Amino acid sequence: MRHLIDIRDFSKEEINDLLEVAEQIIADPVAFQDRCAHKRLATLFFEPSTRTRLSFEAAMQALGGSVLGFSSADSSSAAKGESVTDTVRTVSCYADIIAMRHPKEGAPFLASQQSEVPVINAGDGGHNHPTQTLTDLLTIHREKGRPNNLKIGMAGDLKFGRTVHSLITAMLQYEGISFVLMSPPELRIPSYLREMLDREGVPYLETDEMEANLGDLDILYMTRVQKERFFNEEDYVRLKDRFILDMEKMQYAAADMKILHPLPRVNEISVKVDDDPRAVYFDQVKNGMIVRMALILKLLEESK
Ligand code: CP
Repeated sequence: MRHLIDIRDFSKEEINDLLEVAEQIIADPVAFQDRCAHKRLATLFFEPSTRTRLSFEAAMQALGGSVLGFSSADSSSAAKGESVTDTVRTVSCYADIIAMRHPKEGAPFLASQQSEVPVINAGDGGHNHPTQTLTDLLTIHREKGRPNNLKIGMAGDLKFGRTVHSLITAMLQYEGISFVLMSPPELRIPSYLREMLDREGVPYLETDEMEANLGDLDILYMTRVQKERFFNEEDYVRLKDRFILDMEKMQYAAADMKILHPLPRVNEISVKVDDDPRAVYFDQVKNGMIVRMALILKLLEESK
């Protein structure tokens, strides 16, 4: 049974194929509108979400399938103490494919081991978020026309930001990639990612300066400081506004730099930046639904 738990579960060629299918969907959505007729997607969200859950549900509906699920642990039998594995064994009886978000790192992996149907990790704690990475890769492909030879800036919470971890991991397989990792010292990337970058020989700079580093970036990947992962409120309050992108800072950025953000935004990007043509984070939202359509098709096809 094929699952998507970590972005490394898919080869570079498979990711390219997914992006190609996504482009076909954009070009001719009607051709895909019945491809999942009589199929069911279950969305098991033990942690809050707007984009990931709703884009999965919209994706399945756009493919002619149906959806069931829950949007919080409190409204499922997890609140009575049921384990993730028992939940998934149960839901496998009702659905053809499962998208799961959970605050505990590794929970979707555990679920996949007990599931009779494909399981997609829709975000596990501060660990991984592979379908956001597919969204980011489609956005990069559409906005920059290439996955190679890019200088990527990442700013904000690089420690707890699971989208950052998955995107860095995915970009390691492309040529000519370098990173500028902008965060307070307390919110730098986990050491396992630093070791991966070192092992792969990918150039990176870790810095707490933003303005001085914007000038030659191809992509600026902004992130919010992940309040829910902090052990104390005091640290969150001290760090939350360290990197705010506003029009003043945008003066230092190249004319063809693109700003991505997995969203939700708190206040790390001024709303005035939204009107700048370099801001593509709401296009990214649209891409999220499309690439999830391509993903559902792939996993259902491979589970036949
Ligand atoms: N990008 C993302 O995961 O957003 P949600 O938390 O709203 O799903």
